[in-house]
Amino acid sequence: MTYQELLQVPLIKTSLPGPKASRLIAQDEEFTSPSYTRFYPLVVNRAWGATIEDVDGNLFLDFTSGIAVCSTGHCHPRIVEVIKKQAEMLLHMSGTDFYYEPQANLAKKLATLAPGISAKKVFFSNSGTESVEAAFKLARYHTGRKQIISFFGGFHGRTMGSLSLTASKNIQRRGFDPLIPGVSHAPFGNCYRCPVNKVYGTCQTACVESIEKQLFRHTVSPDEVAAFIVEPIQGEGGYVVPPIEFHRNLKTLAEKHGILYIADEVQSGMGRTGKMFAIEHFGIEPDIICLAKGIASGMPLGAMIAKSEIMDWPKGSHASTFGGNPVACVAALETITLLEEGLMDNARKVGQFMFDLLDALKDKHSLIGDVRGKGLMLAIDLVKDRDGREPASRERDAVVQACFKKGLLLLGCGVSGIRFCPPLVIRERDAKTAVRILDEVLSEITGWIDDK
Ligand SMILES: Cc1ncc(COP(=O)(O)O)c(C=O)c1O
Repeated sequence: MTYQELLQVPLIKTSLPGPKASRLIAQDEEFTSPSYTRFYPLVVNRAWGATIEDVDGNLFLDFTSGIAVCSTGHCHPRIVEVIKKQAEMLLHMSGTDFYYEPQANLAKKLATLAPGISAKKVFFSNSGTESVEAAFKLARYHTGRKQIISFFGGFHGRTMGSLSLTASKNIQRRGFDPLIPGVSHAPFGNCYRCPVNKVYGTCQTACVESIEKQLFRHTVSPDEVAAFIVEPIQGEGGYVVPPIEFHRNLKTLAEKHGILYIADEVQSGMGRTGKMFAIEHFGIEPDIICLAKGIASGMPLGAMIAKSEIMDWPKGSHASTFGGNPVACVAALETITLLEEGLMDNARKVGQFMFDLLDALKDKHSLIGDVRGKGLMLAIDLVKDRDGREPASRERDAVVQACFKKGLLLLGCGVSGIRFCPPLVIRERDAKTAVRILDEVLSEITGWIDDK
């Protein structure tokens, strides 16, 4: 590939998938779990910044970050450097049974970063679902209560505990019963498609009120509830930003009944929204925070941060062999430094720039019903008609596919959302390129969606 070509992203040179990609996909399909959700035939060879090169030499502009993970951009040289250095020193020793510097340093850093003045402690895992499992267990252990409340549309992971909390798509739960008992779901503050059929401004957060008026009155006694677990901004559920009163009133309700407030920041955390933790936009100090994804620029790492007074479980009650791996921990420390040095600000600035571009695009394409998000956690919602807000799911899928063919990598979210979660290193010109491709596709699609 020439230097000029490397600068020109996207650059599609073959039909998609190309010949090498087709061979690898055939092999993958023979030997890999059919449960995976590959939406288009991208076979990645290498990546840098927001650029992905596939195995046939095509270049794509990545607005997925490997599902909101590669926050500092693919293979950021400083991340690669600390990984290499640490790999030569110590690959693994298990932070559960032994001490080492990267884990101790990262725990201190995360505990200090977490919002609020209370002292915090950190438990390390390898993934988002494990961070949620840890929070679930700690909440039950600390309170001695069994019940937990999560929210419709929420996604918290796929292992049995977190799957029980997840209420995103029924395919994720179907066939896996019985799940963990003691979980109830409540309506989330989704003002675009209000789950309790109210209009924002006159609703008095009826969604939160329904917890008290319905759940607590009829099925769950509040003094048996250990925790609310909630995403500050719903991720898989559609990049839904609730109104500020939603979180505030939920926190008030939690405090009234001695219920812990767990913020699942697995997707929204680590600078993506322009603040280190999305819950900071709502001015709340959670009791527990779950992290993973963007925390270590692609190394598998999760963390559960809790107020020290809450993390009172005894030696041996919970642990993980690989959690807090030293290589992952140094990657996380460097990730945080990069976020603090400017990437978080960049997420806020370029995010606002891109939001405005998308909002302008809404004036041109009636298929776009809503533009939402914070920082570089943005989404558009496609609708059949703006008044009824009926989700245009088929059209959404077609748009994502067509963008792929033009070299823009996107992911869906919710029923009819398209999310934009690029690496936080992108510049305004990348945002412009993405929106230009989206504009082209939306202009073309109206004609051909009906032909399919
Ligand atoms: C909010 C949230 N929580 C938990 C998870 C589960 O994370 P993982 O896939 O790393 O287990 C996800 C994954 O998408 C998520 O978005």
